[in-house]
Amino acid sequence: MIVGLERADDAGVYKISGDLALIQTVDFFTPIVDDPYWFGQIAAANALSDIYAMGGEPKTAMNLVGFPLKQMDLSILRRILAGGLDKMKEAGVALVGGHSIEDGELKYGLSVTGFVHPKKVLTKRGMKLGDRLVLTKPLGTGVINTAIKAGLASTDVIDKVIRLMATLNRDAATVMARFPIHACTDVTGFGLLGHLAEMVVGTGYGVVLRVADIPILPEAIEYAGYGLLPAGAFKNREFRGALVEFSTGIDPLIPDLLFDPQTSGGLLICIGEENADRLLDGLVKKNATESKIIGEVVAEPKEKIVLK
Ligand code: CO
Ligand code: CO
Ligand code: CO
Repeated sequence: MIVGLERADDAGVYKISGDLALIQTVDFFTPIVDDPYWFGQIAAANALSDIYAMGGEPKTAMNLVGFPLKQMDLSILRRILAGGLDKMKEAGVALVGGHSIEDGELKYGLSVTGFVHPKKVLTKRGMKLGDRLVLTKPLGTGVINTAIKAGLASTDVIDKVIRLMATLNRDAATVMARFPIHACTDVTGFGLLGHLAEMVVGTGYGVVLRVADIPILPEAIEYAGYGLLPAGAFKNREFRGALVEFSTGIDPLIPDLLFDPQTSGGLLICIGEENADRLLDGLVKKNATESKIIGEVVAEPKEKIVLK
């Protein structure tokens, strides 16, 4: 066992031989968008992401379905599965099976198996002093999903956020594989600060984030200003807020936005300063156009995240 339950990471990793390890992960959730085909794509992209975050390549997957047969037409399920399958094809992943049950609430996701070289496994552990932090997708999908549910999001922004969530982290992972990476995770339910907290705790280092450099969807800032924050943002802030320090000069909405739970968010990559610009350049050229260097690892304050 290379990565197991003793320290929570994005996926489990089990060594098979000197040059092959197995990565396993599972993820499913209730619909976040009305269109079943796009929901299928997003759920699949989200489930595949944990394999990329471990430095691996997804190979096979199985469908997990909970479906309210009495309330919903089966054609909806067919569209969801078609969306998931198209995303798996795009990722070069073979669907090998699955399981469905009748359920009061619709749920869909995947269990995914991938491969990685045992020496190339990336975990949340390993940040070094002076490292740069790179984020590969803009934040704000939780706020915008809340606005969608409230019927307040424009069709343009719905379209934009759906495409963003359905975008695989594969291209970003392909670029990342060309560099020596110290630590990596993907930004999902705990938000940027929640997932960054997992990388920081236990290292003895701190992190400084430059708020102006953090990519946030402009509509998310606007909707958060109307108070459209998901409950998860507050839960995340309650859980990890004590680790975060910021001066009175920071807009009070910013910490909430940085705790906004993300669906199928980007990779959060920790890399030596000497390689950070080249990594960013590669990401921007390869489909992760909104990638940004958002901060760095510092000696003090220890195990805190400072917003500047
Ligand atoms: Co993850
Ligand atoms: Co995970
Ligand atoms: Co996950």
